[in-house]
Amino acid sequence: MGSKTLIFFALLAFFVAVSFVECQDMTILDITHEYVPTMPSYGSKKGLGEILTLVCDQRKGFKTTNSLLTIQVHSGTHTDAPSHAYIDYFNQGIDATTLDLQTLNGPAIVVDVPRDQNITADVMKNLNIPRGVKRALFRTLNTDRNLMSIMEFDPSYVGFTQDGAQYLVDNTDIKLVGIDYLSIASAADVLSPHLVLMKNKDIIPLEGLKLDQAEVNVQYTIHCLPLRLHADASPVRCILTK
Ligand SMILES: *[C@@H]1O[C@H](CO)[C@@H](O)[C@H](O)[C@H]1NC(C)=O
Repeated sequence: MGSKTLIFFALLAFFVAVSFVECQDMTILDITHEYVPTMPSYGSKKGLGEILTLVCDQRKGFKTTNSLLTIQVHSGTHTDAPSHAYIDYFNQGIDATTLDLQTLNGPAIVVDVPRDQNITADVMKNLNIPRGVKRALFRTLNTDRNLMSIMEFDPSYVGFTQDGAQYLVDNTDIKLVGIDYLSIASAADVLSPHLVLMKNKDIIPLEGLKLDQAEVNVQYTIHCLPLRLHADASPVRCILTK
């Protein structure tokens, strides 16, 4: 074979390989929990319950099927809006429609936190999350305990303490902060961490994430789209791609 023929085949192989890679679907990791009646609901023993009612049923002669959705906006995987914690922001209409899509979509990391503590300032300090990281999903003991699969609400879940939240605000660039149970704040003091995080309206808490399949040390891209609801929170579909 002449060298020109060799180069031709090498180039051909290269382009075939490139087009093959391009044809592959991207890897999607769904980090959203399925809405089922037995999903836990904040503060409740009985779980989410039935959120869907068939108002038109083809079996009963309706032309199509149509369901009514009745759901508390902080159910399952969801984002909080500043109006959730601050009455002033509520009065100003700083609701789920104002959540910044730039913050909700982009490079993200998964962080494993120590299993024996809540997320305090000390824990945050030791995690050493580099400046420049804008989106961080905190995987905790909640995932190991499978808490999002247990119907009865468990107040012993791991979340941020007030000083942990303050550390995040003061010493990191995180604007999207995710956690693997129903609240970003630990139950012992559920309000203060919310106040600390949402004071400047630029940090978005992302709660009820499904992080069991996520990997640390992977540079993911997160994609989250809340509903355009004039509400203090919204259910959200979140995926990670890499
Ligand atoms: C986290 O805080 C809660 C109280 O909000 C407590 O019940 C739980 O034991 C703490 N978790 C850990 C791992 O320390």
